[in-house]
Amino acid sequence: MSSLAGQAYVIVGGFNRLNAQGWNRRLVKLSEKIHVLTGLTLPIAFLIMEWYSLSHSGKPYTELTFADLQPVSQIYMIAMTAIALIYTPLWLSIRPQFVVAKDRYHVSAEQKWKTDTFESSPYTNSTTKLLSKVPRNEIAWTDANHKTILIDRLPESLNGLKIAHLSDIHLTGQLSHEFYHRAFDWITAQQPDLVVVSGDIVDYNENLEDIEPVFQRLTAPLGCYFILGNHDKRLTDPMQICKRLEGIGWRDAGATHHIIRFNSIPIEIIGNEKPWFDRYRSDMPTVEPETWRMGIAHSPDQFSWGVKNDCSLLLCGHTHGGQIRFPVLGPLVSPSMHGSKYASGVFYRSGTLMHVSRGMAGVHPLRWRCPPEVSILHLSSI
Ligand SMILES: [Fe+2]
Repeated sequence: MSSLAGQAYVIVGGFNRLNAQGWNRRLVKLSEKIHVLTGLTLPIAFLIMEWYSLSHSGKPYTELTFADLQPVSQIYMIAMTAIALIYTPLWLSIRPQFVVAKDRYHVSAEQKWKTDTFESSPYTNSTTKLLSKVPRNEIAWTDANHKTILIDRLPESLNGLKIAHLSDIHLTGQLSHEFYHRAFDWITAQQPDLVVVSGDIVDYNENLEDIEPVFQRLTAPLGCYFILGNHDKRLTDPMQICKRLEGIGWRDAGATHHIIRFNSIPIEIIGNEKPWFDRYRSDMPTVEPETWRMGIAHSPDQFSWGVKNDCSLLLCGHTHGGQIRFPVLGPLVSPSMHGSKYASGVFYRSGTLMHVSRGMAGVHPLRWRCPPEVSILHLSSI
């Protein structure tokens, strides 16, 4: 049993880390398939080998001991058991109940929409329609929430600043415009001061034309900001996304920093699209000493970058909350070098508060106990 747990750690842990790499997508997907297939077929191969050996030894199955196994099976079992013994306490220690900064935020209001609130079906292709039949598949639900977050080094005049944070829009043609409009209209009605989208905007070239009708519904007095994510890299020319969004007034935080003012306090917004894009200019700009800085990164693996660059707030997405969250255990699959540690939620380290959104969609239309999310973040000094 413990060796099977070790094998599961190797398969899922490797899968998460392979998908956190900035490699070419084909290489990631190829290595992911090789890794998972090898992980699944190895134990089956050992079982077949032991069954064959047993059937020729004449020894009853019930009397089989570890010493009777082939040396290669023994080595495999010892290795996997050792991995299970070493990794289990580490893995348990990064469950959401232990790592989320509960003392740094509270949900002040929450609204949950289910599929039956749409005028017409939100599913626009056959795969999504089919998978929507899976009981409690939450792909077209939405959790629209207000979160008050406690920020270090927040100037008094920024108290109460409202930031709409949404992520992983994934325009794929799987979900209707109405699905996005419902959430975006809700955001506009909350009157946020600024809007941030932390990457993964469009997946396919043919969905570029969906950008304007979906995104132009969002406006905010201090502007709407975006960066790109790993899925945006699948397009023939990802810069088309930037051109189209800038064409409707959005600001590209993945290419350069932006300085805005709220109650006379300068706010600097910096972006990070690593490891998939490196568009941001390398020199950090000189700003006024009292400038308050926030970062936008697609992957929560950039938490250290946010800390290093004195971001009081860092907004991320990418991990989709794990998409499937198991009771007690939480998420397992999460494309991050930290595994499922930062799948979603609020995290704090050395003066930087990181909010990881569960995002709105994805290419795999299956969510369980992990509905899409849009958030209005209310900044409050600690
Ligand atoms: Fe995504």
